[in-house]
Amino acid sequence: MATPAESLTRGDLEALWMPFTANRQFKAAPRILARASGMQYWTADGREILDAVAGLWCVNAGHGRREITAAVAAQLEIMDYAPTFQMGHPGAFRLANELVKIAPAGLDHAFFTNSGSESVDTALKIALAWHRVRGEGTRTRFIGRERGYHGVGFGGISVGGIAPNRKTWSAALLPGVDHLPHTHDLARNAFTRGLPEHGAELAEELERIVALHDASNIAAVIIEPIAGSTGVLLPPKGYLKRVREICDRHGILLIFDEVITGFGRTGSPFASQEFGVTPDMITLAKGITNGCVPMGAVLAGKRIYEAFMQGPEGIELFHGYTYSAHPVACAAALATLGIYEREGLLTRARTLAKDWEEAAQQFKGLPHVIDVRTYGLICAIELAAQAGKPGARGYETFVKCFERGVLVRQTGDIIALSPPLIIERAQIARIFGTLSEVLRAQ
Ligand SMILES: Cc1ncc(COP(=O)(O)O)c(C=O)c1O
Repeated sequence: MATPAESLTRGDLEALWMPFTANRQFKAAPRILARASGMQYWTADGREILDAVAGLWCVNAGHGRREITAAVAAQLEIMDYAPTFQMGHPGAFRLANELVKIAPAGLDHAFFTNSGSESVDTALKIALAWHRVRGEGTRTRFIGRERGYHGVGFGGISVGGIAPNRKTWSAALLPGVDHLPHTHDLARNAFTRGLPEHGAELAEELERIVALHDASNIAAVIIEPIAGSTGVLLPPKGYLKRVREICDRHGILLIFDEVITGFGRTGSPFASQEFGVTPDMITLAKGITNGCVPMGAVLAGKRIYEAFMQGPEGIELFHGYTYSAHPVACAAALATLGIYEREGLLTRARTLAKDWEEAAQQFKGLPHVIDVRTYGLICAIELAAQAGKPGARGYETFVKCFERGVLVRQTGDIIALSPPLIIERAQIARIFGTLSEVLRAQ
């Protein structure tokens, strides 16, 4: 199929400043994706690439779903845009209702954004405003976690724990943020099947931070139930429950960032349900529209929403985006949720998890492999760094897999996998087979 991508020249690549990309390296040897359907991408020169990462953890129902295309096209014909400040449109209310149906019990309200980063900043702002509206305005501190990723807004990089994200903008980070230690512990947990046995005690660090600052100054804790972007760090058994208990004891809100764990990735609609721990707010994005149209949301519990509704008449939360609940995004999301429900995709990872884990655990003993972690349809293969060149082995593995027709994601020396939830067993075999060939050849 002729696409404009086929005719891109080296000069055509310069104008675009690519995000989270080594621009010079990429432009010297570009990887251009031109077409997608089901589990596959095709490159501009027609090579088939099996998508082992659902685009970027977002295309959970597979590519090119006609139901979404039709819903988006129909919505553009009916009404292209409608403001949602002091106005409404049917899709926004319908989508909020559908979302709270699949959300953990008690999270009954949805505030729409356009991305994971915006969802995180929105949740942090709601947390501050909620304490204030209840007369506890001294609660202004946030607690994040080392190796946490919460997007790229100033709020998100402040509570996040990724050094390069924080280094450059250190002077502009939010004041009053502490970080829990991360839970990644290869010495005790390498090659564990399922959740790690060791590390629940790291939740007690929260007590230490509370003792230091006093609970009356702390607004919220934000963590990813499974940290995705820093290489699939699974919560040790009992850890999340303990964090919830400590937050409850001190009146601190708990926010789960489910931007990647939402929409079936773990085998339940949300990781909160999978792990039996309900936060006060969930931030989500990505899978809500199957990656077709940018959208995110914050789900909030009744006690949060209701506190705002007790205040003086008028705008209760001075916050929102021009494109909050954009009609086209709502149409895409409603069609996506319909597919998830009809095809049982929000729990399908559970039925494949054993085979997925089995295939991944075969990597124990392969060259360079120092850990394998899986949960639901998520996997990390952690590789030993090359001497003095952290990330080089991971990058080489990513490029070699791409050359052999499989798209994986690389974070430092960790290879992360998170395929569309429609994946079949033969495709699981192909992904791990290719990765294994690549590692054996290094
Ligand atoms: C846990 C988490 N939070 C927030 C984000 C940011 O989302 P976005 O890139 O849509 O702003 C991401 C993106 O990967 C994420 O994994």
